[in-house]
Parts: sequence; C-alpha cells; structure tokens
Amino acid sequence: MDTEYPVIAPSILAADFSRLGEQIRECLDTGIKWIHCDIMDGHFVPNISYGPGVVSTVREIAPEAFLDVHLMIENPDQYIEDFADAGADLISVHYEACPHLHRTLQNIRANGCMTGVVVNPATSVDLLLPVLPEVDLVLVMSVNPGFGGQKFIESSYQKIDTLYRYREQHGFGYLIEVDGGVGLENSSQLTQTGADILVAGSSIFKSESMAVQIRKIRESARDGHAARA
Ligand code: DX5
Ligand code: ZN
Repeated sequence: MDTEYPVIAPSILAADFSRLGEQIRECLDTGIKWIHCDIMDGHFVPNISYGPGVVSTVREIAPEAFLDVHLMIENPDQYIEDFADAGADLISVHYEACPHLHRTLQNIRANGCMTGVVVNPATSVDLLLPVLPEVDLVLVMSVNPGFGGQKFIESSYQKIDTLYRYREQHGFGYLIEVDGGVGLENSSQLTQTGADILVAGSSIFKSESMAVQIRKIRESARDGHAARA
C-alpha cells in the first residue's frame, strides 16, 4: 500500500445517508484515501448500523478508496467472508469480542484483507502483546463504541504512546489508528503522540463545509506528525 501518513479516515456513520454517494465523493475530491465503515450489531454494542450491503455500495461509489471496516459485532468470524466479498481492504475486530483472536485474524488474512485489532477504552493494550508482531493495524477506541458524536477519552493518549513505543522497541509493523471524538482540537496532539490514522465522523460530516474541515484536520495532523518525527 502506497500511503502517505497521517491518514484521515472519515466515518460514514455520521453521513447523511440520503446523500451518501455525493458526500463520499466530496471526501475523495478533498484527497481522502480511506473510508471508515462502522458495523454495529445491537449486541456487542447497543446500536445497529448497517451491514455488507452498504459496504458494497461504498465500494461501488468509491472503487479507488481503501475501505477500513470496523466490526463492532459478536461472533465476527461468521461475517468476515461477507465483508471481504463486499470490498473491505482491512477488517478490524474487537479484542473483547474474540475468544480466539489469533484464529479470527488468520481468517481475515485468508479472506485477502489486512488485519486490525481494536481495544475498548477499558482494555489495556498490553493484552495485545501476543498478536502485535503479526497484526497490520491496532485501533484504539477513544470513546465507548456504539455511537458517533461522543467526547474523546483523554486516557487514549497513553495507549497510543505505549503502542508507538512498542513498535519502535520491537520493530513491529502495525499502523496505529484512533477512533472516537477526533476533530480539529486534538488531531495534532494525536499524531504527535503516535497515531497514523485518525477516524473522524461528526467533526467532518456535521461541519459547515466538509472540504474545509478535512483540509484543516489534515494540516493539523501533519503538523503533529512532523513534530513527532
Ligand atoms: C464509534 C465508531 C466511530 C464513530 C466516530 O462506535 O466506531 O467510528 O463513528 O464518530 P465520531 O467521530 O463522531 O466520534
Ligand atoms: Zn469506528
């Protein structure tokens, strides 16, 4: 994957679904490369969003985009093939939803997708140590998953910092992503701490001008990234 970091990944959960195609195209025209798809089942999280059908529509709207699919569902193994067929490039599963995490990651890879593992705010990133050498991405939830528009949880910085240090110390190759309550006010500090990918829902889709907001967040994320390097 030939990608320039930091990446801004708009979460379409906050989009106006009656204008989904138009809004996704607007993001892509502003230089967006990743689209974040939030899958919620009403069991693992107390909300229901959408399934593989919408992901495959996003794939049709944006054939060139990198589709980052975040599964907030119980028993993800049952649906991995469906999301891979729908066009996912990367599938992330929650540590808390996977009693056989290693096998689930193998399943994602066997379906031709990059692998991601996610931790909820109350889960320590140290629990991921056994899978860190082989995972492509670690996603730090900076809100309790289930809803857009929540307040960023400050203790997330510590987790990003720990993941960044582990990666440096051990030469691991995973990307670090953060999701929930991300916007202009914290994007620079997040990339400075070590985040490579910022997921942003409300801060982009509920703004007055998506294009202007994306550019501002990207600029601030780049400043933080440069300060870290
Ligand atoms: C939360 C989802 C997020 C959410 C982010 O459960 O995983 O991706 O859409 O939304 P904002 O950016 O509004 O917090
Ligand atoms: Zn998400």
